[in-house]
Amino acid sequence: MTEQFGNQGMVENKEPELSRQYGERTSVEYAQITETDPSKRFVQYPEGLRLLGDVQGKRILDIGCGNGEFTRMMAKSGAKVVAYDSAEKQIKLAQEKEIEENLGIKYFVADRPAISPDEKFDIATSIMVFPHAKDQAALTEMFMQVSEALNSEGKLVSVTTNPDFKRFGEIAHNRRFTKSDDGKNTKVEFFDGLGNFKFDVTGTFFTKADYEQAARKAGFKSIEWQPLSIDQKGIEEMGPEFWDEYETDCPYVGFVAHKE
Ligand SMILES: C[S@@+](CC[C@H](N)C(=O)[O-])C[C@H]1O[C@@H](n2cnc3c(N)ncnc32)[C@H](O)[C@@H]1O
Repeated sequence: MTEQFGNQGMVENKEPELSRQYGERTSVEYAQITETDPSKRFVQYPEGLRLLGDVQGKRILDIGCGNGEFTRMMAKSGAKVVAYDSAEKQIKLAQEKEIEENLGIKYFVADRPAISPDEKFDIATSIMVFPHAKDQAALTEMFMQVSEALNSEGKLVSVTTNPDFKRFGEIAHNRRFTKSDDGKNTKVEFFDGLGNFKFDVTGTFFTKADYEQAARKAGFKSIEWQPLSIDQKGIEEMGPEFWDEYETDCPYVGFVAHKE
């Protein structure tokens, strides 16, 4: 039995947890920024869609979908999407939206794909989920489960924390990244547009070699690291100063792995 969000929601799960869990406040705050945060709106989501290419008619599994902001974008682009998240509250928010918008997305609460072995996907997506894996073994297990859920030509398209990011300790673009003394964890503090602290999330720091090793163990053959760009609309809305050095030392990166 796994406890999440204090006493708010309990998820049945006999397997050991793969990921660190958010506190309730962090989870609620995170759901609130998906529509407003510049890095999410103008980098992670549009670049995630760009890396996916044409998704018309594709079967997509969205891992760690949160409140479903990106999930809905894929469904609106013509994909048939199944999505899950370990946080019950996030899935509740996603389902409420689904009732309003009726995009045909199926959501469930889980920290593993938990789908029938016969149900295979063309693509798996995951936006900012892998840094939540507890350690290298959990990351490898996540990749193995993803690989299992994909068909033989399937691919994983993800956006994650950039292992090469350098500007730790500086507040920039509404964030501050701090690495733990032992180098194993990264804390990300989120600020609003006025510089007020909102919340923080601590994730595991994985190197590129860690990701590649996990993906190869899971049977992925070709692996690409993709630099991310800022959507033009973000430059217009936020102004170029906001994005100073963003693309040259980007906090996020695309990671695409193919099964064949
Ligand atoms: C940073 S949020 C990103 C949410 C969403 N992908 C987005 O970009 O809007 C990370 C999400 O991953 C979920 N998560 C972490 N580990 C997970 C796992 N092993 N399985 C499913 N969801 C997970 C968390 O509950 C959280 O909602």
